[in-house]
Amino acid sequence: MSTAPQRLHPSAHDPRPIGVFDSGVGGLTVARALMDLLPDERIVYFGDTARGPYGPRDLGQVRDFTAEIVAWLAAQDTKLVVAACNTATAAALDPADPRPLRWPLPVVGVITPAVDAAVRATRNGRVGVVGTEGTIASGAYDRAVATAAPDVELVARACPRFVELVETGRTTDAEVLDVASGYLAPLVAAGVDTLILGCTHYPLLTGVLSYVMGPDVVLVSSAEETARRVFAALVDQHLLAHDRAVEHRFVASGDGTTFARLAARFLGPRLSDVDVEPLGWKASA
Ligand code: DGL
Repeated sequence: MSTAPQRLHPSAHDPRPIGVFDSGVGGLTVARALMDLLPDERIVYFGDTARGPYGPRDLGQVRDFTAEIVAWLAAQDTKLVVAACNTATAAALDPADPRPLRWPLPVVGVITPAVDAAVRATRNGRVGVVGTEGTIASGAYDRAVATAAPDVELVARACPRFVELVETGRTTDAEVLDVASGYLAPLVAAGVDTLILGCTHYPLLTGVLSYVMGPDVVLVSSAEETARRVFAALVDQHLLAHDRAVEHRFVASGDGTTFARLAARFLGPRLSDVDVEPLGWKASA
C-alpha cells in the first residue's frame, strides 16, 4: 500500500471486472463491502460450492483450489483478484510461505488488511482472532501479527460450528449464543480488547459476538478492511473503473439454486418494488 496518497488520474479508467472468490457464499460479505465502497466496479464472483467448505480441508488441497480459481478468474479478463476467504488466504497467500505461488495478476487476501487494522485498534496490546480450523491451525494470523506488531499478543480460537449455523440462517438464537459463549470464553478471559472476525461468515454474527465480548471490544471485519485495501490498490495502480449501472456476475461450481438462496442473506435482499405513500407531502406547482 502506498504511504503518500496518489493524485487520481481523471482519465484513468479500467473497465475490466474485479474477480472475487470464496469456498462458497461467505465471500459475498467481502463482495458486499466492495460494492459499497466501489459502486462503479464490476465483480465476477466465484463460489466453490462444489468443494466448500474449505475450513475442515487439508491446507495443501485448498492451496491447489486457490491456484486453479485465480487462473480461471484471470481468464475472465479480471484486473485484480480478491481471495475473499480466510482459509484460502491462509493456505495460498501467506507472505511467509517458503514456496510462494506466482500470480498472473494482483491478488489481495483478507488476512493482512484485518491484522493491520487490529494492531492499530488495540489499546492494551491483546488481540483475539476467530476463524475456521484450517485458518487457525495454519498459524497465518500469528505470523501476520508478529510481522505487523511484534509486541501485540494474539489469542486465536477456531469456531468450527459458526459456518454451519450462519449457512442455515441461524445468527441470533439461544444455541448460537451458547456456542459463541463457549468459543469466546478464552478470549474474554485473556482480556482481548480487539477481535478479528477471521472468517467471511462471521460479520453476520456481529450482534452475538459483540454481545458476548462486551461493548468495549472492537470487532474488526476482514470484509471492510479488505475492501479499503482494494480501493487503495486500484487507485495506486490506476485501475479504477468509472462505469455506471454495473452488472455483476455470480458463478458457482456446485448447485446454483442453493447458492442464490444463501446469497440473498449475505448480499442483502434486492428491492424489486417500492410502495409509494406520500403522507402530507405535496409537489409544488
Ligand atoms: N470462507 C471461509 C473462510 O473465510 C469459511 C467457510 C469455509 O470453511 O469454507 O475461512
